[in-house]
Amino acid sequence: MSESSTKPILVTCGLPYANGKAHIGHLRTYVPADVFARSLRKEGRDVTFVCGSDAHGTPIVVNAEELGITPSELVEIYHKHFDETFKQLGVYFDAFGTTDDPENHNRTLDIVNRLIEKGYVYPKTIEIAYCPKCNRFLPDRYVEGTCPHCGEIARGDECDQGCGKHLEPGELRNPICTICGGPAEYRQQEHFFFKLSDFSDYLMDYLSNELGGTANARNYALGWVKQGLADWCITRNLEWGVKFPGHDDLVVYVWVDAPIGYIAFTEQWAAKAGDSWEKYWKNDGEIVHFIGGDIAYHHCIFWPAMLKGADYSVPTAVVASGMVKIEDKKFSKTRGNVVWVGEDYLDHGFHPDLLRYYLASYTSHTRELNFSWRVLQEKINSELVADLGNFLYRTMLFAFKNYGEVPAGELEPEVREEIEKALKEIKAAMAEYEFKRAVDSAMALASFGNTYFQSHEPWSLIKQDRAACGQVVYNCLHLAKALSLVFEPVLPQTMETAWEELGQEGDLHTILYAEALVPIKTGTKLVKPRILFTKLEDDRIEEMEEIANQRVKAANAKKTAGKDKEKEPAKSEGMGTAEDAKSEKAKLEKLKAKEPEQREILPTIEYEDFAKLDIRVGKVLLAEPIKKSKKLLRIEVDIGEENPRQLVAGMASYYTPEELVGKYVIVLVNLKPAKLCGVKSNGMMLAADDGIEIVTALTTDKEIKPGSRIR
Ligand code: MSP
Ligand code: ZN
Repeated sequence: MSESSTKPILVTCGLPYANGKAHIGHLRTYVPADVFARSLRKEGRDVTFVCGSDAHGTPIVVNAEELGITPSELVEIYHKHFDETFKQLGVYFDAFGTTDDPENHNRTLDIVNRLIEKGYVYPKTIEIAYCPKCNRFLPDRYVEGTCPHCGEIARGDECDQGCGKHLEPGELRNPICTICGGPAEYRQQEHFFFKLSDFSDYLMDYLSNELGGTANARNYALGWVKQGLADWCITRNLEWGVKFPGHDDLVVYVWVDAPIGYIAFTEQWAAKAGDSWEKYWKNDGEIVHFIGGDIAYHHCIFWPAMLKGADYSVPTAVVASGMVKIEDKKFSKTRGNVVWVGEDYLDHGFHPDLLRYYLASYTSHTRELNFSWRVLQEKINSELVADLGNFLYRTMLFAFKNYGEVPAGELEPEVREEIEKALKEIKAAMAEYEFKRAVDSAMALASFGNTYFQSHEPWSLIKQDRAACGQVVYNCLHLAKALSLVFEPVLPQTMETAWEELGQEGDLHTILYAEALVPIKTGTKLVKPRILFTKLEDDRIEEMEEIANQRVKAANAKKTAGKDKEKEPAKSEGMGTAEDAKSEKAKLEKLKAKEPEQREILPTIEYEDFAKLDIRVGKVLLAEPIKKSKKLLRIEVDIGEENPRQLVAGMASYYTPEELVGKYVIVLVNLKPAKLCGVKSNGMMLAADDGIEIVTALTTDKEIKPGSRIR
């Protein structure tokens, strides 16, 4: 990306396989891309940010088969999971579809048909692994054997344990069926090939002179092109996927339709926004792909060749991150070296912005990134708490206590210059995909703020000269405003709070960096500030380290017991572990069991039937656990009578007692009393239940007198 470009810019992220839960490794692609997209928006660029779930490919079929569900059911579970996780982390895509959406089927057909028309696709009879016992062809992960290049154990399409080379069907030696474990044989079958070799010269030029992004991706790819490119088999014997035109028994290889998802999701965004997808894919808008280094081959070779061949625009930049390690060990789910975003991080109450900060600022983007709980603690305590948090809090608290509003003052040239410098450095670093440098520059501005505050001693100045002190406070408050703007891309949720506390108007997320140089308005009302970042204490970190240790131990025990295959599933499959799959399956079974109740509308009733229910608003006065039960809470609600009602509600898994107190809930008050775990329940608190995991209390939209009737 050139620093001065004003073209519209499309930012994408490698599509997560809808086949396992989100882990910190994934986030190395999504968080920096979100930081980048937010920063470009702050520069005033026209940005579109899209992603979606990768729904196809054999791993998903294999996994679904093992679970006894359809691939589409499996995809639905994980698609929802990724969508929710990204939102919780503040990673907001303009579109987040799946590669099984109709837009992607259609766009893939269009591209494949064009490649066929232009003579880039040809049939060839090849040897395909076939299992005589299972009576089926064995694409990709359905077959394992020996890598012809290095001799390591490999799977059908990739030598994932050894040399890392992409393998074409038929290349694997001593093939074994992964379904039944029996020997497979090679049978002849007609498949379709893409003439990748025709694009060698084009790619050589494109990679050397045209493609931007990080040098690691380009250099890898150039190396491969120089070694010579073989044609690429683009069909598979599968039911699940995008059908190859004219051949109902074949689908296109997942790496054909997955990147085409980038176009399909742009189309989905364009339809919603009333904008054009062609400005990127048919014209000269910029296209920037964020990926992990493991999928550079696909993005720098297959993908541009396909686009070029089908007359679409090619990517402007491929930004490839280094991989994530866990506590200095190679990332590995089967060895237990993994940190799950949900259960290990968010569910323990860690703020999403802290993890965003870690990922954006730990090291240069192309390097390996080590995640360690200790380092998280150190970084948060010594940087976010001690520098940024400290400056914002002391400034806002001092200003609020002594002035209650932004005092009269003028922006000092020294302060303005410091902000200008930070802005310039941040923009330059972003343009080079050096996110750490950008965050460091922003943090230097916070340090400047602390030094400024400290050296001007407003706490003693206020006693001597209120106006002179006001001038210092004015500049500090302006710096706080500038800091909210420059940190918004990395810490969107926390900076939104700071922005509001500074009394600033408008949506921080759409306000430009340029606003950081517009002096803060005297007279703006301030509120009592909250502490934005709190120290991570030792006990919380120790607890997390213990969880991590236990996981590694459990993984080892399993291995020595020989229950698990020694083989690590290939990273690029994004496979869930057996446990994941089991818990996901349990959820699905619950859903299925609930299905009739959930889906079928019950027979019609008369109004008189409904009128028999006396349903009222109750205000929760007290809630406490019931000793003998993990699920039940004893609740007292004010329903407008003299004495509060006692209810027993099965809410302990979903709410803490504190969360319920003060809520306006809905209570069926004329239900026959019952005793639950020895405690009398005089009525029933109503809740919504999706049958899988979410149970939420019904409440009222406005505050209303307890006892009000529901009609
Ligand atoms: N579905 C493919 C990408 C298709 S793009 C057209 C895929 N999926 S994935 O779920 O395995 O990974 C999703 C993204 O996360 C990819 O960009 C991948 O590189 C990245 N990462 C997944 N694990 C990672 C680490 N441990 N470390 C860094 N990035 C990693 O690949
Ligand atoms: Zn078999």
